[in-house]
Amino acid sequence: MSATPLADFVRAYAEAGISRLHMPGHKGHGPLGCEAWDLTEIAGADELYEAEGIIAQSETNTARLFGSAGTFYGTEGSSQCIRAMLFLALQAAPAGQGRPVLLAARNAHKALLYAAALLDFDIRWLWPPADGQGGSLCACPMSPETLDAALTGLEQTGNSPFGVYLTSPDYLGGMQDVGALASVCHAHRTPLLVDHAHGAYLRFLPGGSRHALDQGADLCCDSAHKTLPVLTGGAYLHLGHGLLRPEPAAVRGAMCLFGSTSPSYLIMQSLDLCAGALAGPWPGELAACVEAVNGLKARLARLAPGLVRPAEPLKLVLDANALGRSGRALADLLRVHKVECEYADGQYVVLMFAPGNRPLDYERVEQGVKAAVQAPAEGAFRRNAPAPGLWVRLEEQARPQCTIRQAVFARQALVPVEQAVGRVCALPTVACPPAIPIAVSGETIGPAAAELFGYYGIRRVAVTTE
Ligand SMILES: Cc1ncc(COP(=O)(O)O)c(C=O)c1O
Repeated sequence: MSATPLADFVRAYAEAGISRLHMPGHKGHGPLGCEAWDLTEIAGADELYEAEGIIAQSETNTARLFGSAGTFYGTEGSSQCIRAMLFLALQAAPAGQGRPVLLAARNAHKALLYAAALLDFDIRWLWPPADGQGGSLCACPMSPETLDAALTGLEQTGNSPFGVYLTSPDYLGGMQDVGALASVCHAHRTPLLVDHAHGAYLRFLPGGSRHALDQGADLCCDSAHKTLPVLTGGAYLHLGHGLLRPEPAAVRGAMCLFGSTSPSYLIMQSLDLCAGALAGPWPGELAACVEAVNGLKARLARLAPGLVRPAEPLKLVLDANALGRSGRALADLLRVHKVECEYADGQYVVLMFAPGNRPLDYERVEQGVKAAVQAPAEGAFRRNAPAPGLWVRLEEQARPQCTIRQAVFARQALVPVEQAVGRVCALPTVACPPAIPIAVSGETIGPAAAELFGYYGIRRVAVTTE
């Protein structure tokens, strides 16, 4: 079987000079230069949500590379896979148990809330520890003991969750101990679902896989496009070897439920070609990249204590407060050195590396950070992290007033943050990135949420009006 059956087919079709009396309307030529490879479901091209031919073969190649019990392509990111994953977990839950509940770590991407609204389930939140560890919207480190206590507590109320939902790695490169947390879930016979959008590459690390699937996740999604050489939108939904084993047709049906019936063949080819690279030179290139990033982290760590935050191998996370600056100010300085970051807030700058980066990229980052160390920061600097204890107050004040679905679909209005305090959050308002809701739909917006909206630069939020 070919390592890249889909790309092979499309290239042969493009070269054959066939008269294209089918969609898309560009007919194989246009200003982008890639139109010849942009197809629709013509004879032989298979169909993503009914795959039996070259797409199914390509997915099988990828499943083998990831060691999954099944891998399914998505062309609309982890956002689509997350909805499908939750639909599948809900389908597997025992019937007739009242309103379904998911137990989820609070640093979830907004796609989880959209899934809860569409599928109409409730969420019990796992909050970061009270000591403020992490100190960011993006992080929610979870101990096995905390998870065990939460699961036991829910079981005692007769309201067992249909799944546990974790985000790992998170936007700041923090990783949960998925193995230990999976053991806790499985001891409670509860499936573990992992938003692994940032972690596809972890399967191919030189020291061995650290992918969530290999640590016991029952279902997980990877945004292939975030860390692998894949076009934006390319994603995987993986089945693990644990508690949830839906039929392939059911998984395709779930992906179709939340996707367009015209999935992009360019993105699918990109996933197909990525499988070829993963089976070939890419893991070696990743090893070299990880070594280079490690070297850079070590050199930068020597410049200022606390500057380099511990993070997964391909993320360099700088605490700009260690240099007397805000993360946004450091990002501006890096921009002068022709470096564009993934994310910056009042405290952090996140830089994402991959084998496609050139040596020059590492040099520029180092020069930019050195310049920031040498140049005095402008004005008197005040630590720019959220105030200690803010997360505890947020947890105390986040009182649900209605279901997520009711709030998301309620009549609503965008109001200035000051006028939102005491009202009910409608559509989640997020800073993007990291697209993590501060107030969750259906919760009262308290003063702590308002303070965090200010910190993340959010001025208006959606509140219910009925
Ligand atoms: C943690 C996390 N989950 C899910 C998503 C959604 O992924 P996608 O953009 O692939 O739909 C993102 C996007 O940034 C994310 O950071």
